[in-house]
Amino acid sequence: MHASQCPDGGGPPGAWDVLVIGGGPIGLVTAWRAAQRGLRTALADPSPGGGAARVAAGMLAPVTELHYGEEALLALNLASARRFPAFTAELEEASGRDTGYRACGTLAVALDSDDRAHLSELHQLQLRCGLEATWLSGRECRRLEPMLAPGVRGGLRVDGDHQTDPRRLTQALLTAGERAGVELLRQRAVRLLTAGGRATGAQLADGTRVSAGQTVLAAGSHSGTLAGVPEEVLPPVRPVKGQLLRLRVPGPYRPFLSRTVRAVVRGTPVYLVPRENGELVVGATTEELGFDTTVTAGGVYQLLRDAHELVPGVTELPLVETCAGLRPGSPDNAPLLGPTALPGLHLATGHHRNGVLLTPLTGEVLAELLTGGRVPDEAIPFSPARFTPALQEQSL
Ligand code: GLY
Repeated sequence: MHASQCPDGGGPPGAWDVLVIGGGPIGLVTAWRAAQRGLRTALADPSPGGGAARVAAGMLAPVTELHYGEEALLALNLASARRFPAFTAELEEASGRDTGYRACGTLAVALDSDDRAHLSELHQLQLRCGLEATWLSGRECRRLEPMLAPGVRGGLRVDGDHQTDPRRLTQALLTAGERAGVELLRQRAVRLLTAGGRATGAQLADGTRVSAGQTVLAAGSHSGTLAGVPEEVLPPVRPVKGQLLRLRVPGPYRPFLSRTVRAVVRGTPVYLVPRENGELVVGATTEELGFDTTVTAGGVYQLLRDAHELVPGVTELPLVETCAGLRPGSPDNAPLLGPTALPGLHLATGHHRNGVLLTPLTGEVLAELLTGGRVPDEAIPFSPARFTPALQEQSL
């Protein structure tokens, strides 16, 4: 539907209440939640559901992915992880689709004394943060996961870190959004439109100008490149490449692994995420190479080498897919959620490693903002204004 075909209502004639730019899980959940609350909502993306979420492993891992200095982000991640069961049930009901959510837990293991020391440090940090994680001996790890290498020196059992299937999640969000009335504009937004000192929508690649009372920029790693966004509100988001492999566990080998298994092998993280349907995702590289999504021999080699050290049997499995995607990295690895200094323009981007995990919470935060004009307390530390010190001081 073109802007000229829009329904009547409040705001400028022919305008949508909300235009969401970007059709990854963050944009899709924002549009779905906005439409559920009665806002006339359009979403612009040439291929909704087709971005980084097609590549992501879908770990819901606030505890095993905890990093020093990210305690504020931990609170947000935990808040979203807690929402996942009810969110999944609601989304599956609304869409009639399975999302592949699996409350399987995670085992983080160490292969040598350096990795063991690293894991022990992580365990201390987890305990200081009040998180549940149990230290296991190598033998106890292998009892849980018999496919682990004999050399595993110990591990952390985290029963609260789960997984979902991002490909199915985005399909479910697409269906739920359409059922709730979201209009999908299968075009790339090429320019933010502004008038009278506020955002008024976006121009699409085919030249259509889409008017909207509020615009949400949720374009993942591309969020920092949209033309027309004033310099001072352009989000400092950059692409962080991740390469992944998809293997298939044939019937007689199942269950190959019963939970997510991860490790840091000689300083490099690797994880294996087993799906209910027999898919085994192995990820991921972390590369700062701009907008490059080439799958390289070196990336595939690194992942297979490290996965093989951890679980030697992986090299027996059929390799069905190699892929690369772009995480939307931000300067502090945390998302930018909330209004910008340009009235009418909101951000939901920069989720970096946690886009899938933060999908439920982001949907709620943006729905609150779009309908009530305020950001819920738990999201206030993630205001885009934190990267614009002058604006932050004004708001104090
Ligand atoms: N959260 C996993 C990754 O970004 O590779």
